Amino acid sequence: MEPVDFSANAPGLLIPKLPDYLFEDDGLYTPEVGEWGEKKYALVGRYDRLFSTGMKVKWDVRVYIDLFSGAGKARIKGTDKIRPASPLLALSVPDGFNRYIFCDNDNRCLDALDTRVKKYYPSLDVTFLKETATSWLTKSQV
Ligand SMILES: C[S@@+](CC[C@H](N)C(=O)[O-])C[C@H]1O[C@@H](n2cnc3c(N)ncnc32)[C@H](O)[C@@H]1O
Repeated sequence: MEPVDFSANAPGLLIPKLPDYLFEDDGLYTPEVGEWGEKKYALVGRYDRLFSTGMKVKWDVRVYIDLFSGAGKARIKGTDKIRPASPLLALSVPDGFNRYIFCDNDNRCLDALDTRVKKYYPSLDVTFLKETATSWLTKSQV
């Protein structure tokens, strides 16, 4: 079996390349993550894409909820590598979710994510929750 290539934006089976602008420094708030982030985001992006395409024939409506969303991009610690983080990976899937809900209790993260979503995905249905995950879950009685 071929080893999995976790390097940034490496295409694989059924995995299209992501746009270069998701890997660029856009000057907005971008938290640092450890070098493990490289592997994490490669796996998360692959899973998002496999899940959303696989489930589109099973469920008519698919909602993506990320209660600890972060800012949408992350910088790999000690490097100048920028990676699309979980929200932008989910927004990029070829068979998109019908609705996206992003929650974070850090205004710097949600403000940066809001700006990135307006810039890169202006037509998608996205709700931002500036509160703790617990407070939203309590109100929603999920
Ligand atoms: C590890 S980071 C971002 C993770 C992001 N899902 C990703 O993979 O790129 C976790 C985020 O959760 C936020 N956070 C921490 N505690 C929270 C809480 N109780 N409710 C909502 N957000 C919280 C932090 O501000 C931070 O941006």
